[in-house]
Amino acid sequence: MFQTQQILDRAGNVLIQNYARQPIVMARGEGSLLFDTDGRRYIDLFAGFGAAILGHCHPALIDAANAQAHQLWHVGNTYHTEPQIEVAERMNRFAFPGKAFFCHSGLEANEAACKLARLRYKDSSPRRYKIISLHQSFHGRSLAMLATTGNPKVKVGFDPLPPGFVQVDPGDFDKLAAAVDSETAAIIIEPIQGEGGINLYSTDYPQRVRDLCDKLGLTLIFDEVWTGCGRTGKWFAHQYFSKSGGGVITPDIMTLGKAVGGGLPVGVMFAKPDLANLMVPGTHGCTLGGNPICMAVARTVFDVIEKENLLDHVNALSEFALARLSKETRIAPKVAAIRGRGVMLGIELKTPPEKFLEKALERGLVINLTAQKVIRLAPPVNIPQQLWQQGLDTLIDTVAAV
Ligand SMILES: Cc1ncc(COP(=O)(O)O)c(C=O)c1O
Repeated sequence: MFQTQQILDRAGNVLIQNYARQPIVMARGEGSLLFDTDGRRYIDLFAGFGAAILGHCHPALIDAANAQAHQLWHVGNTYHTEPQIEVAERMNRFAFPGKAFFCHSGLEANEAACKLARLRYKDSSPRRYKIISLHQSFHGRSLAMLATTGNPKVKVGFDPLPPGFVQVDPGDFDKLAAAVDSETAAIIIEPIQGEGGINLYSTDYPQRVRDLCDKLGLTLIFDEVWTGCGRTGKWFAHQYFSKSGGGVITPDIMTLGKAVGGGLPVGVMFAKPDLANLMVPGTHGCTLGGNPICMAVARTVFDVIEKENLLDHVNALSEFALARLSKETRIAPKVAAIRGRGVMLGIELKTPPEKFLEKALERGLVINLTAQKVIRLAPPVNIPQQLWQQGLDTLIDTVAAV
């Protein structure tokens, strides 16, 4: 306790207090478990905003980082390094034919995507610059991504934001179509809204948006920062979106962050080749993007998910959780809705719970609350069934108690 308090005091003195951190110091992780400096054990049903997709200290990720650390750390992007190519090759296998730009975060991937969408019209229609996004969306916290994000709260204090970003109601195709004008360059959508409260669309919405983009020559960007890399039970959540004639809808650009690095800082902008080829030298870049150690880990994230059939595991975990949560009579009166796909699940309560996270932590559970009353579950996708069951039991106890 004394040691923990000392660390908290040091943090208060030297860290910017821009996060609402719990007064807990996490010291160690092992699979889907976390341990704090007082030796308390927690089941991790949130995986650091979904990023620790294979849990903590996965042996294959440690080996990949270790092997790469002994070989090459960093040379910068004036040279080729093979791990970048290996990650991009896996994305071609698991997503769609495309080319990758690597950065460190979701926001940077989205920023790159919006830049590329504007580049598309640089010569032919330079006035096509507007990016349309959805209310309740979240795309990052740079000035341009704040302008893209559909949550007024995160924008307070940062005016003026860059012009050319427009938001419309999620899932309302007519409003979206009405917002498009001759200056529109792109539409950016999360396949499932994460920060906004695990919001899904009707099945025909993505298809209509895709058709609209095709008809008007707009760039469709899917922000899969939350939903990518198996979290929803498919490699990428847009693979749930089917075309009217069969097959799946693909975006022109997909962005990744969080899980793709398994917890290390990796962002990816992945674009269809014709579009990707517009990004010529000088148009974009970053010094540490595609760092070999991060890339070796990202490659291994894809490999472990594939080799261990984790998409099947996610679907089994999901089915179990949805059945368990929807049948639990102790929490039923408090629950407005349960929704999500795979292990990106939200339990919307009828009223915002008080001190929910603290009460869950007291019971040994790490979880998250978003949009004031949506409990968000995003465990490591390889969480063992038994621990998942224990975590859900604890979650139910906590909801029953608030
Ligand atoms: C859908 C989505 N896009 C982008 C971001 C920004 O990612 P990062 O925090 O890595 O910049 C987030 C972060 O939560 C997100 O949920």
